[in-house]
Amino acid sequence: MRIVVLGANGGTGRRLVQQALDAGHDVRAVTRQPRSFPVRGPGLEVVAADATVEAPVSGAAVVLSTLGTPFTRRPVRLYSRSTATVLAAMRREGVRRLVVVSSSGTEPHHHAEGGFLLNRIIQPLVTATIARSTYDDMRIMEKMVRDSDLDWTIVRPSGLFDSDSVTRYRLSESRSDGVFTSRADLAACLLAQATDTAWVRRTVAVTTAEGTPTLLAMLRREAFGN
Ligand SMILES: NC(=O)c1ccc[n+]([C@@H]2O[C@H](COP(=O)([O-])OP(=O)(O)OC[C@H]3O[C@@H](n4cnc5c(N)ncnc54)[C@H](OP(=O)(O)O)[C@@H]3O)[C@@H](O)[C@H]2O)c1
Repeated sequence: MRIVVLGANGGTGRRLVQQALDAGHDVRAVTRQPRSFPVRGPGLEVVAADATVEAPVSGAAVVLSTLGTPFTRRPVRLYSRSTATVLAAMRREGVRRLVVVSSSGTEPHHHAEGGFLLNRIIQPLVTATIARSTYDDMRIMEKMVRDSDLDWTIVRPSGLFDSDSVTRYRLSESRSDGVFTSRADLAACLLAQATDTAWVRRTVAVTTAEGTPTLLAMLRREAFGN
């Protein structure tokens, strides 16, 4: 199966490309920075493109998007602009299966595993400040995807952390109790959508239960990078 990965050079994207190659798929990895793309292997094609301008999806069985941008107080348009480009390209090329990464933050809710600190302080604060424009643009992306006639799936992870091993990640409709998702599990969940139709035209939350960091460790890493 030929899989197109958008955002291939990111933390999730690199893992996704590797997992897809390991599973024997042909992969077109799309990045603006092809020279820094570290993954190699038979069946891999690396294509340079800005996804807000062009989406090289010809011949794809499925398009998996891990496109993302760091939180910022400036207006974010990446998600909506790239989605407009991708939807047009998929219609033009007759590609039907689209899986996009969004975030649990697009629908703030009580996380049973989050405790007071996350539910009452961090989530409201982040949602109202540095993540506001990102979540607004992700919600526009989600609506554009839902309104399309494609075979779409919207995947919502919670707080991302790095881990190379895939665990028995948990899936639930739209919302989750969990507060963390490893990039390896997110990648595995995205790849599974390439061959599984259970979540077509649905929104799925994915979380990790094993080997998760503490909330304080996560906050320290986000704030100070260690
Ligand atoms: N961080 C969290 O806790 C969290 C929580 C929930 C959801 N998410 C979402 O999860 C997804 C994956 O996150 P991540 O941290 O693994 O991603 P990441 O490392 O930030 O990678 C995102 C990639 O998107 C690519 N990109 C950005 N603008 C582009 C453009 N115009 N054209 C082509 N590529 C572009 C960048 O690649 P190039 O520069 O190489 O092109 C970048 O490597 C993102 O959508 C993120 O918003 C994150």
